[in-house]
Amino acid sequence: MPCYNKKTIRDIDVSGKKVLLRCDFNVPLDKQTGEITNDKRIIASLPTIQYLLDHGASIICCSHLGRPKGEWKPELSLVPVAKRLSELLGMPVQMSKDVVGEDTRARAAALKPGEILLLENVRFDPEEEKNAPAFTKALADLADVFVFDAFGAAHRCHASTCGVADHLPAVSGFLLARELEVLGAALTAPKRPFVAILGGSKISDKLGVIENLLERADVLLIGGGMSYTFNKAMGGKVGKSLCEEDKLDYAREMVARAREKGVKLLVPTDAMAAAEFSPDATPVLCDASDIPDDLMGLDIGPETIKAFTDEVKKAETVLWNGPLGVFEFEAFSKGTRAVAEALAESRAVTIIGGGDSAAAVQQFGLSDRMTHVSTGGGATLEFLEGRTMPGVACLEDRVEMVAERA
Ligand code: 3PG
Repeated sequence: MPCYNKKTIRDIDVSGKKVLLRCDFNVPLDKQTGEITNDKRIIASLPTIQYLLDHGASIICCSHLGRPKGEWKPELSLVPVAKRLSELLGMPVQMSKDVVGEDTRARAAALKPGEILLLENVRFDPEEEKNAPAFTKALADLADVFVFDAFGAAHRCHASTCGVADHLPAVSGFLLARELEVLGAALTAPKRPFVAILGGSKISDKLGVIENLLERADVLLIGGGMSYTFNKAMGGKVGKSLCEEDKLDYAREMVARAREKGVKLLVPTDAMAAAEFSPDATPVLCDASDIPDDLMGLDIGPETIKAFTDEVKKAETVLWNGPLGVFEFEAFSKGTRAVAEALAESRAVTIIGGGDSAAAVQQFGLSDRMTHVSTGGGATLEFLEGRTMPGVACLEDRVEMVAERA
């Protein structure tokens, strides 16, 4: 298993230091107005930023936004993020006109303790994603210490996510530390019974996650679009539902592996289906293994809701990644909502893997009732696969002081 016990900003002296802080400010923007539509990731970065400011550091903050592919794209500028960050902190946030150019170098050199500077989108420079040595060095030369707090980008091996750690002492911020603590504990030492819930449209996005969770969970509940491939693999008829024909063998293998390992694997027994993929479609209750040819499953049915929520009630740890139906459509949101409510009411450690499942619990107003809602999307999936993440691996390990026996 990769090491998740990393030094944090509490383990070093940041006073009087220039800190290069990598955040994940990849926030959604309104296409028309350019306004930030969800500032969750900026808010999640505040504890680290505030701690560094309060402890006498000056912060040179950087992030990517979108995928500009090395080109200067004004619509992906971090200016709106600087504005929002400044509002949230209640203090000025300087904004660089470039990434590692003259303007940045001058501003970084003049930065005083308690001040914060945000660089322009690091992906405006083609060298960022290549982790190119000269760019990496130029970034590192701005600061004395590297603090990585961009869990959402920890699976990327770029200059600002890991390359700079070759040149600077590198530790974790609080956001990353919390992700590692909660997700790491779920994978390494979960309180049992450990129930994992997987949904979302495709099995192919979650092959490694299913395999890794089968090694660790006591119960695996499968819903969402990917469940129809399981239903078909087990001999069912799934009509027009999503189905990955090339993953039928894989699904059968996972069912067999679950049996071998004594993991209780449940797939839906009933489904709410419809003739078309539309918010106005009329839901029809079907047997999940006997969906008529002209219908597609868009949500789990009441019997499945009962079976899944019963498992949640018995759990001590619940890890959920991927919605169980098309929760964006009111008529097909019932399964995802019911399971989210069961988690909210549970006393178990409840962890929401980022992306769509985080969006779903937020839509239902239940985020605050979960133990942890991950800020990562693809990063959370790679973490759950048990993969080594470059943004984590490059940080200094914490060496525990072991008291000597008398
Ligand atoms: C995300 O939103 O998942 C992260 O910011 C990573 O973005 P990327 O997939 O463009 O690297």
